[in-house]
Amino acid sequence: MSEYLDRVFSPASLGRLALKNRIIKAATYEGKTPNGVPGDNLKNFHKKIVAGGVAMTTIGYCTTEADGRINDQMMWLHEGIRPQLTNMISVLKEIAPDVKVSGQLTHCGNFSKVRKMQRLKRPLGPSRAFNMLGAPSGVPFAGAMTLQDIEYLISTYVDAAKFMASVGFDAAEIHFGHGYGLSQFISPRTNKRTDEYGGSLDNRMRLPLQVLDAVKNAVGDDFAITGKMNMTDGVRDGIKLPEAMAIASMFDKAGIDALICSGGTSPFNPMVYFRGESLATGLIEQQKNPIAKLGLKLTGSKMFRDYPYYENYFLEDAKQIRDRVNCQMIYIGGCTEAESIEQVMREGFDFVQLGRPLIKDPEYVNNLRAQRLNYKNGCIHCNRCATLIEAPGGIHCPLNVQGL
Ligand SMILES: Cc1cc2nc3c(=O)[nH]c(=O)nc-3n(C[C@H](O)[C@H](O)[C@H](O)COP(=O)(O)O)c2cc1C
Ligand code: SF4
Repeated sequence: MSEYLDRVFSPASLGRLALKNRIIKAATYEGKTPNGVPGDNLKNFHKKIVAGGVAMTTIGYCTTEADGRINDQMMWLHEGIRPQLTNMISVLKEIAPDVKVSGQLTHCGNFSKVRKMQRLKRPLGPSRAFNMLGAPSGVPFAGAMTLQDIEYLISTYVDAAKFMASVGFDAAEIHFGHGYGLSQFISPRTNKRTDEYGGSLDNRMRLPLQVLDAVKNAVGDDFAITGKMNMTDGVRDGIKLPEAMAIASMFDKAGIDALICSGGTSPFNPMVYFRGESLATGLIEQQKNPIAKLGLKLTGSKMFRDYPYYENYFLEDAKQIRDRVNCQMIYIGGCTEAESIEQVMREGFDFVQLGRPLIKDPEYVNNLRAQRLNYKNGCIHCNRCATLIEAPGGIHCPLNVQGL
């Protein structure tokens, strides 16, 4: 069996991008961009990750415009941060000369919490909606995008992708999932439009495919373009696996280099992808306001449904997508232990993305190479790291005395 473990260390091309092995750091919004600026904190985080042996790291949540941010500490891709981004990427490549750097290209659409938006008066999505995430910070409603807004949004993806290529990124992961802006168009739960961008699957996929096409044309073939999509939204009236299979085929036919198949939505059901201990536990621990703490205790189990953790929890569904597409497949979701990576390789996935396992152990790849099937990662899927994204200094694993 260990030939499959060997496979994970073998070089492979992602699209035309040569990767030294098959382990990629997943996008995990790091919360380390104070006032939107990527500083030493973010750089140090990714320095540890690339020194640990991954083939490619992914800078989480890079928004295409200021109004694509959920909170005002998030980074948006613009000229003002060119020096910091260029420096960060070149430092990462000095540390690990053959490492590649990707960024998750995204936009929150209808659920920003930012009170003072830059371009817009309020967050916009496919249709008018109650903005559950924004309501506590005074942004309770989202509007519906006009055709002009849609055109403008596409142009922000183009500009952001060109900017990424110009500062040294090697790849972009377009976020089509987890309930973010483009996912809001794909999902019948959030897309109630009656024009050519709503209704049938072809119509709901129009904007995501236009974005993919525009981004591909903007950056050229050597820049790898991957897409993270949902196999299920985890909500009533949302995307489910049969429709997700058709969606994957559409991205495939449109020439995406690789698909990352996940599930769940940040505003409605994040536990689908954060499988493990409820996010409520960590949020309650951190909450200093006694009333908000009590509120969380009372509502936590409704906000965060119970999804017990097990290894490779998306594998069975992802295999069905794998059988439908010709593009490359990057497995994500609960691939923590050596046996699980081996299984993912055995099932023919081209690459694997790791989120929490790399936060727990940035040296994962080097340790796995040395210890092989004896390697134990130590992540207990308590999700405390995920509840630190808006905490000062951003994410780390509280189980680690040192390290991330
Ligand atoms: C701290 C943290 C932040 C995350 N932020 C993002 C994000 O910005 N974008 C995204 O698509 N997924 C995000 N995720 C989800 C991961 O990319 C991944 O889908 C999930 O953690 C499951 O993979 P894992 O079991 O390897 O951790 C985040 C996860 C964690 C733990
Ligand atoms: S805080 Fe640490 S142990 Fe808990 S889920 Fe995150 S990486 Fe794993």
